[in-house]
Amino acid sequence: MKKITIAIDGFSSTGKSTLAKSLAKSLSYVYIDTGAMYRAVTLFAMRKGLIDKNHFNKEGLVESLPTIELHFEYNPEKGFAEVFLGQENVEGVIRSLEVSQYVSQIAEVPEVRRKLVEQQQSFGKSKGVVMDGRDIGTVVFPDAELKVFMTASPEIRAQRRYDELIVKDPNISYEAVFKNVVDRDQIDTTRADSPLVKADDAIEVDNSHLTIEEQFNLILDLAQERIR
Ligand code: DC
Repeated sequence: MKKITIAIDGFSSTGKSTLAKSLAKSLSYVYIDTGAMYRAVTLFAMRKGLIDKNHFNKEGLVESLPTIELHFEYNPEKGFAEVFLGQENVEGVIRSLEVSQYVSQIAEVPEVRRKLVEQQQSFGKSKGVVMDGRDIGTVVFPDAELKVFMTASPEIRAQRRYDELIVKDPNISYEAVFKNVVDRDQIDTTRADSPLVKADDAIEVDNSHLTIEEQFNLILDLAQERIR
């Protein structure tokens, strides 16, 4: 059967990864969460003291880039590939609000983007991949056969992210999560290098009022049309 590339882009907390994971599973494709790669680089920068509330040593990060080794390993229990920073599985620590607060600054750095985009293109070179992020349909795979652009209102996205985070951290506030969502939207859409924009040929899905199943069925049909 013909294999295609599926690019899923959109704002933070629009459920891109939930959709991408289930599509990959049902098509037996590889799923790559590119946000996890930017988050892992952010974790590296935080641990090395290259970024905190008061400063960001961009040059230091660029110098360290060749030493950052990222890869994915499939976890059969979870049914998707988890991201590793060197030998460490960092999947459980990269979703914190702290990492979320710095990740957009890290993702603005052209050298970081160049390194990660090259790696993403190599992951997808044999097709049969579902990749989610911000620039997949515009920069990483401009020729992807199926491009989806996901949106939802900031309030709904903040609520979804808050519901996820509160389980791990009871002190988290909805206001802080909402501010992070809005701030990231602003940085992600206005940065100079590969800003978040809808590709001309992407299908826009506003999922503010769609169930996960409704979105899945909609996109799976579109994928199957293109595979046939
Ligand atoms: O999808 P996410 O929220 O885990 O992504 C984290 C951040 O990484 C997001 O605020 C923007 C950045 N990102 C990016 O610039 N390009 C991508 N392809 C994926 C994520």
